[in-house]
Amino acid sequence: MNSIFVDKFYEENNRKPKVNITTFGCQMNEHDSEIIMGLLSERGYEATEDRKNSDVAIINTCSIRENADKRFFGTLGQLKKLKENNPEFLVCVCGCMMQQQHIIDELKNKYRWVDVIVGTHNLHNLPKLIDNIKSEKKKQIEILPEAVEMIEDLPSKRLYAEKALVNIMYGCNNFCTYCIVPYTRGRERSRSPEAILAEIKKLVADGVREVMLLGQNVNSYKGELEDGSPCPFPKLIRLIDQVPGLERIRFMTSHPKDMSDELILAFKECHKLCKYVHLPVQAGSNEVLKRMNRKYTRESYLTLVEKLREAVPEITISTDIIVGFPGETEEDFQETLDLVRKVRYDSAFTFLYSIRKDTPAEKFTDQIPEDVKHERFNRLVELINEISGEKNKQYVGNVEEVLIESISKNNKKAVAGRTDGFKLVNLEGDESLIGKIVKVEITEGKTFSLEGKLI
Ligand code: SAH
Ligand code: SF4
Ligand code: F3S
Repeated sequence: MNSIFVDKFYEENNRKPKVNITTFGCQMNEHDSEIIMGLLSERGYEATEDRKNSDVAIINTCSIRENADKRFFGTLGQLKKLKENNPEFLVCVCGCMMQQQHIIDELKNKYRWVDVIVGTHNLHNLPKLIDNIKSEKKKQIEILPEAVEMIEDLPSKRLYAEKALVNIMYGCNNFCTYCIVPYTRGRERSRSPEAILAEIKKLVADGVREVMLLGQNVNSYKGELEDGSPCPFPKLIRLIDQVPGLERIRFMTSHPKDMSDELILAFKECHKLCKYVHLPVQAGSNEVLKRMNRKYTRESYLTLVEKLREAVPEITISTDIIVGFPGETEEDFQETLDLVRKVRYDSAFTFLYSIRKDTPAEKFTDQIPEDVKHERFNRLVELINEISGEKNKQYVGNVEEVLIESISKNNKKAVAGRTDGFKLVNLEGDESLIGKIVKVEITEGKTFSLEGKLI
């Protein structure tokens, strides 16, 4: 593959152009960045961590909460200085924020020096848009309101050698009243099971041992096999479970309202499916759940957790919780605390409710004051951490299979990996262990991780 930008760059500088990507947001964005880098590497670009010495900077944005927006504008501010010093330096922005008209207006008015703006539905056109700048000598903006086609076989430059992110579907139809995703990622579209299997087989041939299947709500995956028969999510798992050489399957995220008995059975029967589920509850009060449009009750959620644990007693469960949703009373919040005490999550992500423009909850009148939100948030985090710590202590003495992923963040003589149940484990070892699944005896349980030793 060739590129006008790279060709000219070579001519003028006699080296490859360097690209720096900053990624905000969820694993889907992370995977989109892997694809952008895959596309650009094929055309002769080189990745760099060093933004100051890059030739092209790309910001892949997220709009889930206000602080994600703020971090984007902060990063743009830093890039402005680089652009002022070097007008040849290209700045490209993509991702969820680009699907919001008010952001595009702001970029057009206040950030005219941004070179390329591309939306979520046509990200694969980013290299072409960079080329167009060289040939047309003008700013490129390409945003589609909805996805028009499913592009397959996009290359990807993976962050990890041993594990890979695999999209199985795009978009979301749930319209939780607080959430921006249905507007930035469009309606649900499922990839074909054959395309997913082919991608996974290729990844395994390339050394991948674990796949993370991605979708905003994987349980509403509606694949269709070549012979026209339906392939719901549990069936897809069973097909992937048979891929030779693959060792672990995970997925993210499943909506509690759609967690089927078939999927619970798959946890029990599919050997490669890790015994871990991320099951966002968001709130423990039925009144709040109703106003969030979550379509389940605290009772049905608790029953679901019971069923999961009955089928697979060792399953680990994590969740997402929003604190301070409009109208949340102290009693509602107490119900969230109570639910957390009942479920006893292995871990939980907690968020302060953040108003998102043009979502239904933006119009809800009884917004909660910031100080009340923070105070509730702190109480919740304290409870969650206490439970996580207690649960992790129970692992001491267990022998766990750990897929080693990297050198530990805080100790260069240690490595870090994940158990089947997604617990982070640190142990003494060197890089020769990376990519291997090893048996580890757990020696200590901390709040957010386990310590262990190789056996
Ligand atoms: N599709 C996933 C969630 C994706 S967003 C699911 O439904 O499970 C990840 C998390 O961000 C959500 O679970 C929710 O807890 C949080 N979130 C989304 N919108 C938010 C908002 N406006 N304010 C605060 N947290 C929010
Ligand atoms: Fe957002 Fe709800 Fe869709 Fe998750 S299911 S992405 S929270 S609208
Ligand atoms: Fe953010 Fe978009 Fe993901 S809003 S959380 S990057 S789908």
